Amino acid sequence: MLAATEPAEKVAQSAAVAAAWRSGALAQIGTAAPPARPARPPRPVLLEPRAMPKRRAGNSPAGRIALLHALAHIELNAIDLAWDLIARFGDPSLPHAFFDEWVGVAAEEATHHALIAARLAELGAAYGDLPAHDGLWTAAQETAYDLLARLAVVPLVLEARGLDVTPDMIRRLESFGDESSAAVLRVIYADEIRHVVAGSRWFHWLCAMRGLPPAETYRSLVRQHFRGVLKPPFNRTARDAAGFAATLYEPLAEPRD
Ligand SMILES: [Fe+2]
Ligand SMILES: [Fe+2]
Repeated sequence: MLAATEPAEKVAQSAAVAAAWRSGALAQIGTAAPPARPARPPRPVLLEPRAMPKRRAGNSPAGRIALLHALAHIELNAIDLAWDLIARFGDPSLPHAFFDEWVGVAAEEATHHALIAARLAELGAAYGDLPAHDGLWTAAQETAYDLLARLAVVPLVLEARGLDVTPDMIRRLESFGDESSAAVLRVIYADEIRHVVAGSRWFHWLCAMRGLPPAETYRSLVRQHFRGVLKPPFNRTARDAAGFAATLYEPLAEPRD
């Protein structure tokens, strides 16, 4: 999956491997060494986050395409992030439930990318048409040394941030009358709550195994590896539903003025 260049190929392989794992056809998963960078198509062009053109807000087809394109890029990264987590940290001594849960996440990220790609096609666009940024893989490389750091930053900062911003995107798309795009985002939002559940569950599990206090450990890992502050308002309802307690992240929030 990480070696698949074309997004459609990455999606198809992810679904096939997840099905094989669930059926018991694979005795082990995560035994291959992951590449430092996953294979990607020649387009989109990857820019520094700073160099990204400002997304046009508002109800224009171009604005909606730019939003969906950015989300398609996030979901493609998310597929690679899930398989990278399994391949890089999937020690066979870990509980079977660990692999079940992260294989499930990878399969859902593949569905998300495919849903957005299909919606882009309906709008006459395709993934690769616009530039994208490389911030997500930077987070992966920063935390490649330890599963606890990866869990703190990827599911418990980046995916949790998705929970904060998605309801507003859904409302905006609905207000533009783009019910089809809103429906795709509603599917993604429901799944992403479970991804934060997975992040929180295995973060706490690993802290317990290592005898570390979860709240202090989370804060020190985020300060170390995540540039920038956590932006309120937080979606407390969704974060609570995911078992991600405010006592972990509230102290890291940027002060509100
Ligand atoms: Fe996703
Ligand atoms: Fe996710």
